Amino acid sequence: MRRSAALRSLVRETRLDLDAFVMPLFVGPDTRPNPELPPLGRFSVEELVGEVEGLVRLGVPAVILFGIPEEKDDEGSGAWDEDGIVQRALRALRPRFPELLLLTDVCLCEYTAHGHCGVLRDGEVANDESLELLARTAVSHVAAGADAVAPSDMMDGRVGAIRAALDDAGNEATPILSYAAKYASAFYGPFREAAESTPSFGDRRGYQMDPANVREALRECELDLEEGADVLMVKPAMPNLDVIRAVRESFDVPVAAYNVSGEYAMLKAAAAKGWLDEQQAAVEALTAIKRAGADVVVSYWTKELAQWL
Ligand code: PBG
Repeated sequence: MRRSAALRSLVRETRLDLDAFVMPLFVGPDTRPNPELPPLGRFSVEELVGEVEGLVRLGVPAVILFGIPEEKDDEGSGAWDEDGIVQRALRALRPRFPELLLLTDVCLCEYTAHGHCGVLRDGEVANDESLELLARTAVSHVAAGADAVAPSDMMDGRVGAIRAALDDAGNEATPILSYAAKYASAFYGPFREAAESTPSFGDRRGYQMDPANVREALRECELDLEEGADVLMVKPAMPNLDVIRAVRESFDVPVAAYNVSGEYAMLKAAAAKGWLDEQQAAVEALTAIKRAGADVVVSYWTKELAQWL
């Protein structure tokens, strides 16, 4: 059954289908292309509209927006500003692309001057004080046109806080895609460059998970489900295929995986050196992520994949 492409295709167990992919996009005050890692460049609101038009034409069904504000402060107030960068992008995109799924990343790290995902008290992230700010951010995204929100901050209790705030604002139908098992990973490097969100001191190990743990990932998922999460996401994807599989087997809700910036960058860099074929390596990696159990994949390859398919 392996002798010809047609036979292999007939019995293939896992297929890549563009409908399951989400393209990450960065929006900021100006357009700054990233020639080596194009999806990790940023667009102004106007240029974002053009980029999204191209994605929709290619058949990309969903995008997730990340904002880089003009100014940052201690609380990250740009995150919930009615006239903030993501809110303006949503208002530009929503009426133009009614069929496109608009997801937003809900976090404070791109908006805080210190780069941490919550507010600080005595040099430490204050979990509970951050919840109300994250909830406000989620509500403002939905008011501006987001179809679903994706909290990535890893504060305890944020899914519940966001669910309650969305319901209070009359958005009881808006789903929450939770970054439920998000590891403190070295693979976020290129993202932090792009989003200017590297912490100014310390690291995120006080709130993101230890990559050594899988039982803890299931516990995080269980708590998020109790709080009202609709989709559970594992991140990064490639180093955590066993975690994706465990989450898939433990829960009946849709499972997402985030194929993060470092996973993208390492294959891109190896391909640029001529060490491997990018398309083949990317398709193999993305297929493995789906085979491990992901229903939804967030990937910087989404645009290229649309072209390859
Ligand atoms: C925000 C956030 C990060 C990523 C997604 N949302 C960065 C981080 O936690 O440091 C990383 C995504 C990537 O590397 O592609 N908290």
